[in-house]
Amino acid sequence: MKAQLIDGKLISAEIKAEAAEEAAALKAQGIEPCLAVVLVGDNSASKVYVSNKQKACEAVGIKSVSHVLPGETTEEELLNLIDELNADKSVHGILVQMPVPKHIDDRKVIMAISPDKDVDCFHPVNVGYLHTGAKGFLPCTPAGIIELIKRSGHSIEGKNCVIIGRSNIVGKPVAMLLMQENGTVTICHSKTKDLAGICRGADIIVSATGKVDTVTADMVKEGAIIIDVGMNRNAEGKLCGDVDFENVKEVAGAITPVPGGVGPMTIAMLMKNCNTAARIQNGLM
Ligand code: GUN
Repeated sequence: MKAQLIDGKLISAEIKAEAAEEAAALKAQGIEPCLAVVLVGDNSASKVYVSNKQKACEAVGIKSVSHVLPGETTEEELLNLIDELNADKSVHGILVQMPVPKHIDDRKVIMAISPDKDVDCFHPVNVGYLHTGAKGFLPCTPAGIIELIKRSGHSIEGKNCVIIGRSNIVGKPVAMLLMQENGTVTICHSKTKDLAGICRGADIIVSATGKVDTVTADMVKEGAIIIDVGMNRNAEGKLCGDVDFENVKEVAGAITPVPGGVGPMTIAMLMKNCNTAARIQNGLM
């Protein structure tokens, strides 16, 4: 294997240790950071994600309270719960696990969460702050990607960064963060012409399409950094990313595995945002 393996488990453990120190410092000032996690319905992947988030809170020393609601919960009931959590001074962060059932409008849910408690950084107010470069919440997966690149010893400044996928959760916000790090950013998507040609010019590729083999070795410049946000199953049912890891690792300079790359970073950055939420609500930032 030619490429450096970027170890998301190791880097996320470092960040969680920092978050634990921050949480302890807040507790020493009489503030106990607290995250409310809301899960509606019984999507099995969501249950695993929520349980992992709660375990991380416990390990870091952040209090978590969970609200597990049945799939038939009405939009009004969910919005009422969010109002209660917004008003609850002991709750600093509110996370509604997505996707919510189809009869609930996820945009209304996102808009209902107080921007000061929006630890996912999904509310338009926080997306606006992100675009203008103000301090505050950072979107968890995109911020985790920046940490993976920097903490594995690479700079972003002046690099050609190609993002594949234009979602609100990953593609668009990671573009902003890479630009703030002085990268030169191109966002590609399903209608992009000559994706392979654009990728061949990239120093950094971030793939977030949810499609197996989005990035193959012929698309990768020698020495490029490859960040794989995909969580897919291949033909044999094995967990894999968007990148043809086996072949790309022989061309790339550095690459994230799936699992063990970007995945663990999302939760680590969420822990940081919970501390940020506690600081914001106590006038400390
Ligand atoms: N569903 C998948 N990823 C996420 C996430 O980061 N936050 C929330 N709230 N839901 C998700």
